[in-house]
Amino acid sequence: TDRYAVMGNPIAHSKSPRIHALFAAQTGQDLVYEAILVEPGGFAAAADAFRAAGGRGLNITVPFKQDAWVYADRLSARAERAGAVNTLVFGTDDVLGDNTDGLGLVNDLERNLGCSIAERRVLVLGAGGAVRGVLQPLLAAAPASLTIANRTAATAAELALMFGDLGRVYGGGLDILDGKRFDLVINATAAGLTDEVPPLPDDLLADGAWCYDMVYGDRPTAFVRWAHAHGAAHAVDGLGMLVEQAAGSFRLWRGVEPATAPVLAALRAG
Ligand code: ATR
Repeated sequence: TDRYAVMGNPIAHSKSPRIHALFAAQTGQDLVYEAILVEPGGFAAAADAFRAAGGRGLNITVPFKQDAWVYADRLSARAERAGAVNTLVFGTDDVLGDNTDGLGLVNDLERNLGCSIAERRVLVLGAGGAVRGVLQPLLAAAPASLTIANRTAATAAELALMFGDLGRVYGGGLDILDGKRFDLVINATAAGLTDEVPPLPDDLLADGAWCYDMVYGDRPTAFVRWAHAHGAAHAVDGLGMLVEQAAGSFRLWRGVEPATAPVLAALRAG
């Protein structure tokens, strides 16, 4: 039986053990997956210990994705650029770091929800680690433009510069949104964690617009409620992204593709 785990802090409420157990049952893979609480500053030691005990791979969540990026011996191109790693693969001679968050977001939007990104005006709210993790796959989906708006203008402008070679990327403060309209708005601010929404113009959404909250919850999130109140045609939370990023990790570790729809349905059912 191969061992995997997710490391983070906090970790008690992580849905990853359940998701990977469902993937394993569905594909007949012999593995166990646990959640491990790691103290700040303790990531490398915890990862070393897990590997020494025969662990085959890890998922990494807040606040250790940058530590995992440093820890990896080798990085995928998308992880390199993201500056963050959510998946470690323990090989016989080295440790590969990858990041499946962006792929998870794009797969949930395009495959599961039928929201095409190509040629759409896309707005990303926030400019933290969660945003860096998804920009390359989002830009690879060829939006007409990608605007990053953040409470702190400078960090959004910096991200726009860093990713500007991959497409038409703009960045700035929330004030750059005045008078603009978007077809797809993705919330990646930590404001959602406290059930708040950044201050947004009332006429932000184009006809038929999609709103996607990278946060998820048992009730509609603050951003999903904002979206419905401001004319969004579709507003969804990020539970599907969570399942899709997990599927990306599972594929890297096991070389098989799990079906995500039944797993998402099981999570939605509680
Ligand atoms: P994460 O890894 O989740 O992205 P982060 O790197 O701390 O976490 O980034 C948090 C993001 O949420 C930032 O874009 C932050 O804005 P600032 O760069 O201005 O700090 C944004 N954020 C957090 N709380 C917010 C709030 N109450 N309103 C608006 N934006 C908020």
